[in-house]
Amino acid sequence: MNIDRHQPEWIDAFEQVFTLCKMRVSEKIVVLCEGQSRLINVELAELALTRMGLSFDRIKVPTPAPMTGPIIRSSGASTALSGQPDAVTQLCLADVVVDLTVEGLMHAPETGQILQSGARIMNVSNEHPEALARLVPTLDLKDMAKEATGRMRAAKEMTVKSSAGTDLQVDLEGAATVGVWGWTDRPGTLAHWPAGLIVSFPRRGTVNGRLVYQAGDINLTFKRYFEGVVDLTLTDDFVTNVGGNGLDARLMRDYLAAFDDPAAYATSHVGWGFNPAARYEALMMYDKADTNGTELRALAGNFLYSTGANEFAGRFTRGHFDLPMLGCDIALDGVAVVSNGVPV
Ligand SMILES: [Fe+2]
Repeated sequence: MNIDRHQPEWIDAFEQVFTLCKMRVSEKIVVLCEGQSRLINVELAELALTRMGLSFDRIKVPTPAPMTGPIIRSSGASTALSGQPDAVTQLCLADVVVDLTVEGLMHAPETGQILQSGARIMNVSNEHPEALARLVPTLDLKDMAKEATGRMRAAKEMTVKSSAGTDLQVDLEGAATVGVWGWTDRPGTLAHWPAGLIVSFPRRGTVNGRLVYQAGDINLTFKRYFEGVVDLTLTDDFVTNVGGNGLDARLMRDYLAAFDDPAAYATSHVGWGFNPAARYEALMMYDKADTNGTELRALAGNFLYSTGANEFAGRFTRGHFDLPMLGCDIALDGVAVVSNGVPV
């Protein structure tokens, strides 16, 4: 692993993303971080802004003490702004928020208010800068995201199948679908970097079937590749059985049960990745503290299934599994969008 010492190409990467965001001198830019933010990324953001001749304010909030109960990782639901009304007010006055919170503001309670005030939020995922630099978004990613979003929004049903036995049906009518290409230049929108994926939050009672995870698939909450089979039964959105005898199944059963909350078992989002620069081996190459796993969410052709909160189905919970599955056939109204793990 690289030592966390500034590399010129890492500053370049931040500058490229901020340029895509069309950050301007006339805008109020806020760099938001917390006590546990990855310091080098905060510094790289500030160095890039300075090099671009853009002034900014830094808002640093304390990282909240962890709650008792299950350990939370990679949920995308930062609690750093809870109990920080002054900071939220400042963020609402901003044109651009460079979000360097540990979990990210994607699903934070305050995010809606900040976006409604017209700010755009550029989340820098809590990754090692080497990964960020490898995954600077390209213009192609935006085209791919737009196309995938259009297809998803027009479809009534998504099906996912695999030779391992996966057979899932998702009724997409009324689902909320978002394509993420890695930057935002529009007021009131949020993007995260890295990116290159589409996520859809299905309505209540629309996800049924079976998901059979096998060795080589990925559990991004635990930041490990599956080494054995985990056979999930899904009934009206809820995981009603976690089959499997190995460590992966045991860890998932135990973690889900630990929330003591039925909503922890429900579907959060479904979708797929299409970033050709994302590397499958990435989880092997970074220490757990050096990766947030966003690269694997965007891995081209993975079916990304997630449990946890889904505000569009009226469910809130702290737990969240992001579970990329490889080698699937994904179809929208019977038309393939991913074939044997490869985007069509
Ligand atoms: Fe997720």
